[in-house]
Amino acid sequence: MSDSSDSEGQAPHVERKIPNILVTGTPGTGKTTTSEMIAEATGLTHVNVGDLVKQKQLHEGYLEEFDTHILDEDKLIDELEEVMEGGGKIVDFHSCGIFPERWFDLVLVLRAETNVLYPRMEKRNYNQRKITENIECEIMQVVLDEARESYAEEIVIELPSNDINDMESNVDRVRQWVDIYKANHS
Ligand SMILES: Nc1ncnc2c1ncn2[C@@H]1O[C@H](COP(=O)(O)OP(=O)(O)OP(=O)(O)O)[C@@H](O)[C@H]1O
Ligand SMILES: [Mg+2]
Repeated sequence: MSDSSDSEGQAPHVERKIPNILVTGTPGTGKTTTSEMIAEATGLTHVNVGDLVKQKQLHEGYLEEFDTHILDEDKLIDELEEVMEGGGKIVDFHSCGIFPERWFDLVLVLRAETNVLYPRMEKRNYNQRKITENIECEIMQVVLDEARESYAEEIVIELPSNDINDMESNVDRVRQWVDIYKANHS
């Protein structure tokens, strides 16, 4: 568990009327597309952490070799703390252990097969090193393990995201889950 996690293995204790959902997974697994669709279906607000980091300069520079920004975790957590308090957020990020456990009511880990993930990244003109790293990360289920280490077992859900049918069924499941959550917390 990361340093920024406030509770030691305890379930989230904050009662929210509208839930916060974390959508995580290896780059290219469909987090942003799925989050936008969930937002549309539920009325929750999509927070794209990667975009926020760039917009608000929540980084300590750029790592050319890996074509990525070095995240300033403390700045990011400070920036999001108030945003998360109200509930109703869909947080979209490829890493999940950095956030406080208490922020989330549901953690979705999107998964994709190598044969669909590879062309998705090629299409985005990722350099070869980044593609290989991400493929290895997906095969070794790094993000899923990180999620299971960081959040209560019962709120971490692994979802296939290989094609549009998977995506639609994932969005529908989440929509139903949000409806039940809202009914139970009104
Ligand atoms: N389940 C899916 N079925 C078909 N296409 C998909 C699926 N998931 C993602 N894609 C496609 O793959 C590409 C990457 O998706 P998206 O941008 O949502 O991924 P991401 O997880 O947000 O990536 P990143 O971590 O780089 O932000 C997009 O072109 C998207 O349309
Ligand atoms: Mg994205």
